Amino acid sequence: MSSNIVTFLVFFFYLAFFAIVSPAGRVLLDSKNIAASSIDGGSNFTYVCDPSWYSSLGLDLSSFAFCDSELPYDVRAKDLVDRMTLMEKVKQLGDGAYGVSRLGLPKYEWWSEALHGVSNVGPGAYFDDVVPGATSFPPVILTAASFNQSLWKTIGQAVSTEARAMYNLGRAGLTFWSPNINVVRDPRWGRIIETPGEDPYVVGAYATNYVRGLQDVEGTENVTDLNLRPLKVSSCCKHYAAYDVDNWLGVDRLHFDARVSFD
Ligand SMILES: *[C@@H]1O[C@H](CO)[C@@H](O)[C@H](O)[C@H]1NC(C)=O
Ligand SMILES: *[C@@H]1O[C@H](CO)[C@@H](O)[C@H](O)[C@H]1NC(C)=O
Ligand SMILES: *[C@@H]1O[C@H](CO)[C@@H](O)[C@H](O)[C@H]1NC(C)=O
Repeated sequence: MSSNIVTFLVFFFYLAFFAIVSPAGRVLLDSKNIAASSIDGGSNFTYVCDPSWYSSLGLDLSSFAFCDSELPYDVRAKDLVDRMTLMEKVKQLGDGAYGVSRLGLPKYEWWSEALHGVSNVGPGAYFDDVVPGATSFPPVILTAASFNQSLWKTIGQAVSTEARAMYNLGRAGLTFWSPNINVVRDPRWGRIIETPGEDPYVVGAYATNYVRGLQDVEGTENVTDLNLRPLKVSSCCKHYAAYDVDNWLGVDRLHFDARVSFD
């Protein structure tokens, strides 16, 4: 395994630890996609490092440094990655992470969506009789047109409160692939309504406010030591460059050989 991949994995789990094993974070164990079904009884445990979860697996919690909340996140993340075999590492790389049952690490579906409300578009969240729906705020292009920064943050706060509630009920993840901050360049792009539009300044201001609305826990928003700063949920701004071809005459972004220039 190249050192780049190892670095990526450590970074990935470093970020993940904010959402997953911090005291404020839990991992989803019993949604349809993240089912702990591979690990019996998992649906009764919502913290990765829950002592009763480990004892039910016959594992000694105290032997896993990544469960030691006294240690900084980067040390814990490295400890976890160092314990994995190459194959176990590879199996965590998709949005549907397989987990590592011998380490007590459950499956996790990273992909939940909350562009303007928790949505069931991502496989990590779903609605049913218990949670029949979440608030759907107007599409982002409309609220962006208000040019009201506190409104964007307030919407983010409302969305993350519902997201936490759904997570606690096992119906969403803690990691949301939102907002969409691609700067609009061509009105024919079919996903413009997801975005704050064509003005890079507005896009930046929108991103800052919406991400803070999703992530900030009231009272800790100015804490600079990231080890002491919990996340309400984790927000992931998307997408990387050259994403514009969604699906056009049978051409989609996963198979199109995009040659991106700096122009
Ligand atoms: C989960 O908890 C419920 C309620 O306490 C209990 O009835 C059930 O047996 C538990 N399931 C497992 C697999 O431990
Ligand atoms: C901006 O949004 C806030 C809600 O966050 C609202 O109270 C305020 O009235 C809005 N401002 C304007 C000018 O509409
Ligand atoms: C964080 O900083 C902002 C800007 O200085 C301030 O308005 C806010 O009250 C601070 N929040 C806390 C919890 O100290």
